[in-house]
Amino acid sequence: MEQKKIVVTGGGGFLGSHVVKELLAKNNEVIVLDDFSNGKMAHLQAFQAHPKLTIIKGDIVNVADVKRAFAGCQMVIHLAVLDLRQSIKEPHRVNTVIVDGTMNCLDAARENQVELFLNCSSSEAYGTAEYVPMDEKHPLRPETPYAAAKVAQDMYTFSYGRTYGLPWTTIRPFNMYGPNSHWQGYRGELIPKMIVRAMNKQPLVLFGEGDQTRDFLYVEEAAKAVLAVADNPACRNRDINFCTGQETSVRRIAELICANFGLDPQVLIQKQPPRPGDVMRHMGDSRVFQEIVGFAPQIGIEEGIQKTIAWFKSLPFTPEELIATEVLRSWE
Ligand SMILES: NC(=O)c1ccc[n+]([C@@H]2O[C@H](COP(=O)([O-])OP(=O)(O)OC[C@H]3O[C@@H](n4cnc5c(N)ncnc54)[C@H](O)[C@@H]3O)[C@@H](O)[C@H]2O)c1
Repeated sequence: MEQKKIVVTGGGGFLGSHVVKELLAKNNEVIVLDDFSNGKMAHLQAFQAHPKLTIIKGDIVNVADVKRAFAGCQMVIHLAVLDLRQSIKEPHRVNTVIVDGTMNCLDAARENQVELFLNCSSSEAYGTAEYVPMDEKHPLRPETPYAAAKVAQDMYTFSYGRTYGLPWTTIRPFNMYGPNSHWQGYRGELIPKMIVRAMNKQPLVLFGEGDQTRDFLYVEEAAKAVLAVADNPACRNRDINFCTGQETSVRRIAELICANFGLDPQVLIQKQPPRPGDVMRHMGDSRVFQEIVGFAPQIGIEEGIQKTIAWFKSLPFTPEELIATEVLRSWE
């Protein structure tokens, strides 16, 4: 996919910043629409002066902002979102951004007759696994307001395809990690939080025994896969899991991080009571990802964690500054 005019909503965010980098590397013209509520201009700094990048600070809930950003575009990669934990505190606000915002983007995509609306959903839409590995036919049983809004986002995308003929693909990433991930406050994710704790020689806390498993996908690979999906006509009008099909336990993550810092896991890993409602197994079926998208992740969890640690070490913050904003029990 080269030399196209592509809007990336949420392009200043974790996944979005990597997608923007990949699109520019392929000589596309990229318009980022992001309100930078959670995204960071710093994530785009390396290519801010790129002649083919336009950054619009705007809100997907605001129709005028969306129309301006989408004018003349050929493709949309829709990543803007407010996250799960915010949805627990502010379900209506998160619904407005995810559902109304998505409808604005779908309308503008239609008006511009785009060749693809690439809708980014989440494995959260499936809820707790009724079976593993979870394939694309797994029932959608959202368990949080965030997940419910993501299901509505997906259903509107599907319906615009059926009603108006808008070409679409819905991708469902499982747990992504890597550079530009969030570590601060209630938004902090497992791997970044553990790395920041290890940098400060603070205990890596397991809630329960650490047997919970997740399917971790390195974010730079996810970004490459977004382009592979966009390029591939066989990916049109279908849902696609973004996952590795491998499960890794939370305890294994803690052990790997200890090993990277030369720390003794017997000393540093601590256990606290389980988190209420924690899902024990979450693993995607990666067959469509591998066979239709043709994407086999190359970066395993060991290498991905090393790269993520290297990114943390490159940040202009001391370990003390990094941990200062941490919220350990972020669900409370
Ligand atoms: N991070 C993961 O592990 C994960 C897993 C599954 C699915 N996803 C999905 O991937 C996509 C990207 O997520 P992410 O992890 O990069 O999140 P992120 O929070 O890093 O990025 C989202 C971006 O959207 C922007 N945004 C928020 N509200 C906006 C608004 N009203 N108007 C314009 N921009 C707005 C934020 O500023 C941010 O830059 C989302 O659709 C998310 O549901 C992420």
